[in-house]
Amino acid sequence: MDHHVKDLALAAAGKARIEWADKDMPVLASIRKRFEAEKPLAGVRISACLHVTTETANLMRTLQAGGAECVLCASNPLSTQDDAAAALVSEYGIRTYAIKGEDTETYYAHIDAAIDHKPQITMDDGADVVGRIHAERTEALEGILGGTEETTTGVIRLAAMAEDEALKYPIIAVNEANTKHLFDNRYGTGQSTIDGIVRATNRLIAGRTVVVSGYGWCGRGIAMRADGLGGNVIICEVDPLKALEAVMDGYRVMPAVEAAAQADIWVTVTGDINVIDSPAFDVLKDGAIICNSGHFNVEINIPHLREKAKSSREVRPLVEEFVLADGRTIYLLADGRLVNLACAEGHPASVMDMSFANQALCAEFMVANCADMEPGVYEVPTEIDEEIAALKLASMGIEIDELTEEQVHYLSSWQEGTV
Ligand code: ADE
Repeated sequence: MDHHVKDLALAAAGKARIEWADKDMPVLASIRKRFEAEKPLAGVRISACLHVTTETANLMRTLQAGGAECVLCASNPLSTQDDAAAALVSEYGIRTYAIKGEDTETYYAHIDAAIDHKPQITMDDGADVVGRIHAERTEALEGILGGTEETTTGVIRLAAMAEDEALKYPIIAVNEANTKHLFDNRYGTGQSTIDGIVRATNRLIAGRTVVVSGYGWCGRGIAMRADGLGGNVIICEVDPLKALEAVMDGYRVMPAVEAAAQADIWVTVTGDINVIDSPAFDVLKDGAIICNSGHFNVEINIPHLREKAKSSREVRPLVEEFVLADGRTIYLLADGRLVNLACAEGHPASVMDMSFANQALCAEFMVANCADMEPGVYEVPTEIDEEIAALKLASMGIEIDELTEEQVHYLSSWQEGTV
């Protein structure tokens, strides 16, 4: 079986960790059980470009149980867990192309290997497969039924493609499901980003000024957790509504250059480019730690930082020290790549359970309904979102009330008013 992973000898360790993650992914496990019986994806070729983690391995097992022929490649050069990649190949028979630390050329060679699979369904985290198919590998468009997209950044790219009428097949924006972004983006990014910063630096958060650029669901999660650890949180936002929300949530809100002078730790999660740039580098507090938890490593202007710096060196794994001309030092984590996946293990299994349940059910939905779907970006069907929420609650042993008939009637009538 063709593959490209670091070392197959890591497979046993990977399998043990994949099983550990599976214990906290009950929703996905229940879908896997149904898929095994019903085979809704029988013979469907799926090319997935996702972070190659233990949680992703359990999604691959689920798609395979549904009858799909899957190939997996990395969606980021630094996020691969090499033991999980090895186990996918030798324990689960899934062709995997991913090595932690791969260079850009290898990264795209891996994406090309996934496209060579002639996918009927593409599954992206950041839209790199869709982008490559539409730009360089257009021959692969033939035979594609549809796709799914995991993350905010990818959905933004796809929306731009759809707006330009460049998108040639239907894609379901998994990120937009409530059972995805309200949990994965908020609680997942919140916890795993702090986890990445702490594992990389072993710095105390309490008493430190933590600047968060971006107050979307990810930024809210990071701010909440930094605050919970005793950090003094500042939010930088460009959207007045989100900025206002941050103020009312109790945070200080200010422009980036002002925040820069106070930042002990600065995390970007905006999805945009050069959020930490020259004006901020000029005033950044001596010893500040800067990092990114957004999808691409463009949020910090690293080329400019390299130009500006007198010297740089690695002081701890994935911690690079830059000394500036005036003697200030700045510490950059994970070369500006996703700090939660590069320095820690990404989101915990319990939230990926819901994200990947969405992926599995949307793949099933796409196969069943693609004939009626024009090219474009689609929302996750509400029934899928609600089913996942109900399954998750059930797995936690939590029961909730149901509306009585009287209440259903009341909510659907307009005649009732002040009594
Ligand atoms: N994105 C964030 N965390 C992840 C994880 N644990 N697995 C796959 N994708 C992720």
